[in-house]
Amino acid sequence: MSKNIQKMQNVKSVREVEIKDKRVLIRVDFNVPLDDELNISDDTRIREAIPTINYCIDAGAKSIILVSHLGRPKGKSDEFSLKVILKRLERLLNKNVVFADLDNAQVTLNTLVDGSIILLENIRFYEGEEKNDDNLSKKLASLCDVYVNDAFGTSHRKHSSTYGVAKYANVKVAGLLLKKEIDSFAVALSNPIRPLLLIVGGSKVSSKLTLLTSILDVVDKIVIGGAMSNTFLKAVGYDMKDSLVEDNLLEEAKNILRIAKEKHVKIYLPVDVVTTTKDKKDIKIVPAQDVPDERMAVDIGPATVRLFNEVIRDCETIIWNGPLGMYEDQKFSRGTFSISHTIADTYAYSVIGGGDTADAVNRAGDKDSISFTSTGGGASLELLEGVVLPAFEVLDTRE
Ligand code: 3PG
Repeated sequence: MSKNIQKMQNVKSVREVEIKDKRVLIRVDFNVPLDDELNISDDTRIREAIPTINYCIDAGAKSIILVSHLGRPKGKSDEFSLKVILKRLERLLNKNVVFADLDNAQVTLNTLVDGSIILLENIRFYEGEEKNDDNLSKKLASLCDVYVNDAFGTSHRKHSSTYGVAKYANVKVAGLLLKKEIDSFAVALSNPIRPLLLIVGGSKVSSKLTLLTSILDVVDKIVIGGAMSNTFLKAVGYDMKDSLVEDNLLEEAKNILRIAKEKHVKIYLPVDVVTTTKDKKDIKIVPAQDVPDERMAVDIGPATVRLFNEVIRDCETIIWNGPLGMYEDQKFSRGTFSISHTIADTYAYSVIGGGDTADAVNRAGDKDSISFTSTGGGASLELLEGVVLPAFEVLDTRE
C-alpha cells in the first residue's frame, strides 16, 4: 500500500513546471450536487479547485481551459450542462470566465486576450470521454501546452480527460488539490501514528470487500457500522430479521473476521441497533441479537455509540469511509453524527472519505474540526484499497 502511495506522491506538481505564457488545460471535478431547481447545494469541489486556477493565473498562463464532467448524462441535455457552475466559479475567482463547447474551443481561444479562462461544456456530452477515446484525448491535448489534473474525485476513472489526454500532452502534472489529497492520505496510510483505526459503513459489504481485505495489513482496528454491519452480525449468528443483509456474502464476512483475528486486527461490530418498521414510523432500540420480527436495523444504538467512542478515543489516526446508519433521515442520524462529533473532538489525525461520509460530517457541523476531508468518494475508496489511481499513473514524475 505505501509503495503505491509513494508512487502517487512522486508525480510532478504544477509548481514544478513552466506556466508563463503557456496554454494550460486543467481537469477539475465540478461534479457538484444540485437540487431540483439546479441550484448548487454544496460548492466544496469548486472551491477546492480555485487554488490551482489562481496559481496558474498568477504564474502568467496565456490561457486556462477548465474541463469537467457533471453527473452521468446520456448524450447532451440542459439538465447536465456545466453552465450552472459558471456564475459561482466567476464569483469565487473574481474573474470573467468564457463558456464554450469543446468543438469551438480552439476558435474561442484564438479570439481571447491573454490570461483568459474558458470553462468547457460537460465533457461527458462526448461519447468518447468514458471510452477513453483516442481522438477525444488528442483533441483535448491539442488545446494546451501543459495538462494539469486537479480532479481527485475522478482520478479513479480511465477516461479521455483524466487518462488518455496525458498520452498526447507534452507536459502533464498534478494540480494542488490532487497533491493535497494524496499527501493527506499518505499521512494516515504510509507511516501513521498508531493505533490506526478504520471506521467503515455504508449499505453494502460488496462495495467494500476489497477495502476490508486489503486494509487488514495496514490498520490496527476496524469499526463496522451501517447496513453492512448487518451482514457481519448475521455471519456471527444473529437473526437480523428484515434488515438489509447480503446473504451471498456471509462466508466472505466470516472470512474477513477470521483473517482479522489471525492478523491481530480488532474488529468492532454494533452491540445494539435502532430498528424500525417498513413504514419507518415506529422506532425501537434493541440489542443486536434481539431484532424483533418485521423490523430492520437502520442506525447504531446508544450502547454501540459509547463502545465505538471508546475505540475512537484510543486511536491516534482515524480513517472514516461510509455512514453508520440512514443519516439522511434525521430520526436515524444520531449514531453517525455522534461518531462524527467524537472524531472531531479527538486530537487524532482524521481523514474522511468523500461522498456520503463528507456530507454526513458536514451536516453534523464537524467539517472544520476534521484534519482532512477528501473531495473524492469512489476515488478515496479505491485509494484505500491500495491501488495506484489511473489519473496518477499517467502524469510526469520526479526524477
Ligand atoms: C464523483 O462524484 O465521485 C466523481 O465526480 C466521479 O463521478 P462518477 O462516479 O460519475 O464517475
